[in-house]
Amino acid sequence: MTGSAWWRHAVIYQIYPRSWADGDGDGIGDLLGITARLPYLRDLGVDAVWLSPFYPSPQADAGYDVADYRDVDPLFGTLADADTLLATAHELGLKVILDLVPNHSSDEHEWFRAALDAGPGSPERARYLFRDGRGHAGDLPPNNWKSVFGGPAWTRVRSTGSTDGSTDSSTGGQWYLHLFDARQPDFNWDNPQVRAEFEDVLRFWLDRGVDGFRVDVAHGLVKESGLADWDEPLYLLGDDPGAPPAEKVPHAHRSRRAPMWDQKGVHEIYRAWRRILSSYNPVDADGYSGDNDRILVAEAWVAPQARVARYVRDDEMHQAFNFDFLQTQWRAGDLRDVITTSLAAGDSVGAPTTWVLSNHDVVRHASRLGLPVGTTRPHGIGIGDPQPDAVLGLRRARAATALMLSLPGSAYLYQGEELGLPDSTDMPDDVRQDPTWPRSGHVERGRDGARVPMPWQGDQPSYGFGPSEKTWLPQPASYAALAVDRQLGAPGSTLELYRALLAVRRERALGAGSLSWLAGYSEDVVAFVNTKANSERSLVVTNLGAEPVAVPTGTTVLLSSGPLTPDGRVPTDTTVWLTE
Ligand code: NOJ
Repeated sequence: MTGSAWWRHAVIYQIYPRSWADGDGDGIGDLLGITARLPYLRDLGVDAVWLSPFYPSPQADAGYDVADYRDVDPLFGTLADADTLLATAHELGLKVILDLVPNHSSDEHEWFRAALDAGPGSPERARYLFRDGRGHAGDLPPNNWKSVFGGPAWTRVRSTGSTDGSTDSSTGGQWYLHLFDARQPDFNWDNPQVRAEFEDVLRFWLDRGVDGFRVDVAHGLVKESGLADWDEPLYLLGDDPGAPPAEKVPHAHRSRRAPMWDQKGVHEIYRAWRRILSSYNPVDADGYSGDNDRILVAEAWVAPQARVARYVRDDEMHQAFNFDFLQTQWRAGDLRDVITTSLAAGDSVGAPTTWVLSNHDVVRHASRLGLPVGTTRPHGIGIGDPQPDAVLGLRRARAATALMLSLPGSAYLYQGEELGLPDSTDMPDDVRQDPTWPRSGHVERGRDGARVPMPWQGDQPSYGFGPSEKTWLPQPASYAALAVDRQLGAPGSTLELYRALLAVRRERALGAGSLSWLAGYSEDVVAFVNTKANSERSLVVTNLGAEPVAVPTGTTVLLSSGPLTPDGRVPTDTTVWLTE
């Protein structure tokens, strides 16, 4: 490993394939569409793309229910299209990271079908977590776990095999565990066949040239043996309502570790995977630069940060998402705390810190930051819900992004945030597709609002998403003015801000710098110096207070997330980058 390996400071752009670019006009994005638009990302200035799943899938959870890990769903194209996408990205200097979903498969995966057919006690069932029910005639679920999406985490199958997807106790058979939708049965990671299968899947894609994997639910694969009841809520996707950060909860008051999350046993899985990835680019090879490293990034919703750091120890994954940063309230003290804690956690194991503000599972930060400070992060916003202040949200989102992109480490962007897209918050409920909405008994609206197809051309049908007017989710009217063609070259646009941020970040190697806090500012200001190895200093000031603040004397403004006051001070909710 070297200090300069690409992933230590890369900016990685998440493409949600259903919603980025539709090549064939069926209203759902696809690989052809992505490939055609890749030059846009080169020009934006990112280093890599992460693609959410495109594998064959019944799409019960938008592709996070995989029926075949070694192919492409016809909805998105073919394996040959994936090869073309990879080759094109590489020609453009972009790395490609795939999404690996190892905690569960689809109920249409051939292993699950075989498990249903084979019956209790069979080797086929032993690849998943089947159990007999409790109570008279086994008609109660094996334990009390709930699904992350709502409802029970167990579904009973018919004694003859197939499931009808219900928990009807009269179906007579065993139960299987699914931490997510009933159509996403959890694998049994104690089974060597499961381990061997995924190691082979890694090799399949590494041989095709992919640069790494984002590992879905990386903290969930191994369950505590015995599958004991768990009476506390099943927090994931950071939905712990208002709970204090784990760092601040005295150890004695912390409840025991949830039996389905962050078990010790997950780490040996990632050590084995790291060995496989390293074999594609041996660290001890002559001329090793880190430029060709294949990487693993953990989606692990665990706390505190010290637990996240365990996933990125030297012989495990390369990166883990920093969801604490994503969830931090728009308060200067909270931001300083999370930045300090995150950098220290990474340093403790020699790993880079990552930063992220939006992804396909959360309300976009342009909307989130338009809600009153202190609001618990909503699970989707719909008609009748308190609506974000769009102007305030965008202003804060631009300041937040400018802060994020100035920090040392690697940063993740979610498609459309470079346009300042808000969530769609006026989507009719009957078009929603996230299983969270029905499974929560129509309480949690879910994630569709962040997944709406991208606007490329403001005056085209589907805003240029594809050649037809079809879009799998409706686009809000506000997206026309935010389309790429409206913002490209437009001074002050959010797209131009992102392009400038990424160019200056690269030029000044901010991702590879080190941070020290600047003294002399009020509590409401986040101010620091990012120092590069050659000692070039970049100063960053984010003002969250009501009064404009002066920039340090002798500095020159490199760029700013919004206009400064006429006398050159930094107004509220604005970030400025400066040089000495
Ligand atoms: C996390 C993914 O990001 C989310 O979209 C998905 O629903 C769950 N994991 C289950 O795979």
